[in-house]
Amino acid sequence: MASKLQAVRGMNDLLPATTPAWRHAEQRLQAVLERHGYQEIRLPLVEPTELFARTIGEVTDIVEKEMYTFLDRNGDSLTLRPEGTAGVVRAGIEHGLFQGQLLRLWYQGPMFRHERPQRGRYRQFHQIGAECFGSAEPELDAGLIAMTAQCWHELGLPSLRLEINSLGSRQARGAYRDRLQEYFRGNRAALDEDSLRRLESNPLRILDSKNPDLAALIAAAPSLPEHLDDDSRAHFERLCVLLDQLGVAYTINPRLVRGLDYYGRTVFEWVSDALGAKGTVCAGGRYDTLVEQLGGRPTPAIGFALGLERLLDLMAVNGLEPPAPLGVWYLASTPGACRAQALVLAQQLRAQSNAPTVLMDHAGGNFGKQLQRADKAGAEIALILGEDELAAGTVTVRLLRATQATQETVSINDLQATIARLITAQESFAV
Ligand code: HAM
Repeated sequence: MASKLQAVRGMNDLLPATTPAWRHAEQRLQAVLERHGYQEIRLPLVEPTELFARTIGEVTDIVEKEMYTFLDRNGDSLTLRPEGTAGVVRAGIEHGLFQGQLLRLWYQGPMFRHERPQRGRYRQFHQIGAECFGSAEPELDAGLIAMTAQCWHELGLPSLRLEINSLGSRQARGAYRDRLQEYFRGNRAALDEDSLRRLESNPLRILDSKNPDLAALIAAAPSLPEHLDDDSRAHFERLCVLLDQLGVAYTINPRLVRGLDYYGRTVFEWVSDALGAKGTVCAGGRYDTLVEQLGGRPTPAIGFALGLERLLDLMAVNGLEPPAPLGVWYLASTPGACRAQALVLAQQLRAQSNAPTVLMDHAGGNFGKQLQRADKAGAEIALILGEDELAAGTVTVRLLRATQATQETVSINDLQATIARLITAQESFAV
């Protein structure tokens, strides 16, 4: 017997029962982004492997062990994108988008990381992200973070916690890196395998370790804020003042370093306690040197990405449902000429821009059977076209959800007006 085909582990099907919630969240979030002047950019899912090694960093979990990398038929090394920022910067340079003026871009779509799947962590997951290029001023950071706060507000999401930190300038980070290396070298015996590897190549990443055995050692490590350069400290203090003025609550987490190498100065994460271990719903920060590093003109920038799986999980945990659909009308008919007439009527009804979902019955059987199916399909109105109706040029309209059985046979020409009247009557009856 042939083996059963299944989706790739960690890559989920989004079935029809869940897509309305996804669409609802996506549409709301897009509206917030557009309101802030962000424009959509759509990019390939596959990029040259080198792009990610040069942006995210050689010594990061993503590049070291999580990328889906393969040789294509030309022998070129390609990678399924693990995140969106690298591609946006690549495209911006390639198409000359960074011309000095502010550029605000958003994107959405699947990202791929070969991580161990668990709740909130998948191998194909979906992000909505935004990147803003062209200004280093902290007002931009504050505005972008306030925009994310607005996103939660728009979706009715309570209780997300904002953590912020500053990684400082490259030089300050270099000096801090040396201090940290010195500290962890002195405690080499206490380090686990991962941290030992990071010790020489990327000691900041040890701060990110989730190993509980290292928690005390990490807590006692030299602290990043003490090593900030003056400009970055002033930048960060100003950001804090602006967030206060905007009424966006935050906590400063001096251990927040983020898992991608391109960041400098502001970094932030929105975290929920309701999602288990994988509670970071949204994360981002500044990457002022990345554009230049990839060959573009110097262009300071900041951005974020939110994980839609985690966001949808959080919405479900909070009992937030998408709004009910417009409604369903169900056309029941007898085979032959009546069915043909029903088909024509369905097309006419759907041609209107405010039309509900209009379903035709194609399974047949008597009207009782067809009406049962209408009920199952969630219809609130059945339109019945039998031999009598066809001969008289009429349709029978039946309200399926009314507390009192309501049915009328009307001329096809009066159909819309009759439905509107019946629905209004039903609503006022319900009140
Ligand atoms: P990131 O922290 O790697 O940052 O990912 C951002 C968000 O994507 C996470 O907070 C999480 O919600 C979601 N996410 C990441 N990995 C997974 C996974 N395996 N399964 C489910 N959700 C996941 C970035 O990607 C940066 N590009 C963000 C950014 C944009 N920074 C500046 N601009």
